[in-house]
Amino acid sequence: MKGVILAGGQGTRLRPFTKLINKHLLPVYEKPLIYYPLLTLKNAGIKEVLITSGKEALPDFKRLLGKGEEFGLKISYAAQNGAKGIAHALGLAEKFAHGSKIAVILGDNIFMNHNQIKQGVENFEKENGAKFFLKSVPDPERFGVAHVAKSGILSIIEKPKKPKTNLAVTGLYLYDPDVFDVVKKIKPSARGELEITDVNNHYVKAGLAKFEIVNGDWIDAGTFDSLLQASLLMMNKNKEIPIEV
Ligand code: G1P
Repeated sequence: MKGVILAGGQGTRLRPFTKLINKHLLPVYEKPLIYYPLLTLKNAGIKEVLITSGKEALPDFKRLLGKGEEFGLKISYAAQNGAKGIAHALGLAEKFAHGSKIAVILGDNIFMNHNQIKQGVENFEKENGAKFFLKSVPDPERFGVAHVAKSGILSIIEKPKKPKTNLAVTGLYLYDPDVFDVVKKIKPSARGELEITDVNNHYVKAGLAKFEIVNGDWIDAGTFDSLLQASLLMMNKNKEIPIEV
């Protein structure tokens, strides 16, 4: 399976820093934020990674990560023009995927249990459709929220005012190669972006969405509080997980 890191966006919740520097290059304890999703993919056994971001930030990512030798990975890059949404950025990976399944991770998502993800990725090699990783959180209204029954996921609602569950859809998604046809079918949302939740609901409606619950800490480091929380977590725990380069 190949990996895609989506590292675009304006980082509006982290201004003024993000006026100067891309969110995914900000420090989380002793590493730039993007190292964490990169190492999540690497530790899941993925060898080829595409990073998508805006035109302005891509040279910085290239200077930091190069072709990936330091990580034992093959890293390539794709530029996204304008704020057209997470699903639009994913669409840029079609050529790179070249018919393989893909593991897509948002560049600000930090997962501590890399073993679970490795297992999930390995199992997905034999599956089709999509797999999502859900996490019970105290503030689900910040995220895509899954409404789940015994039969599986019933729907996902993006940032609901009154969430039906506390299960956030984390920013790690495993897709079969059909995902690129799905991206082409969805329409921009009210804020003018192609939403990843619309892609995911397509799989839900088709009965092709599986999920597992994340064991271990998960942080979307896109706000000041969660960015600080991520640094503190790493300061206290970074000896316990294989996050060394
Ligand atoms: C995005 C997705 C949301 C998901 C979250 C996970 O939100 O739209 O569905 O739950 O990432 O990190 P954003 O962080 O861009 O607001």
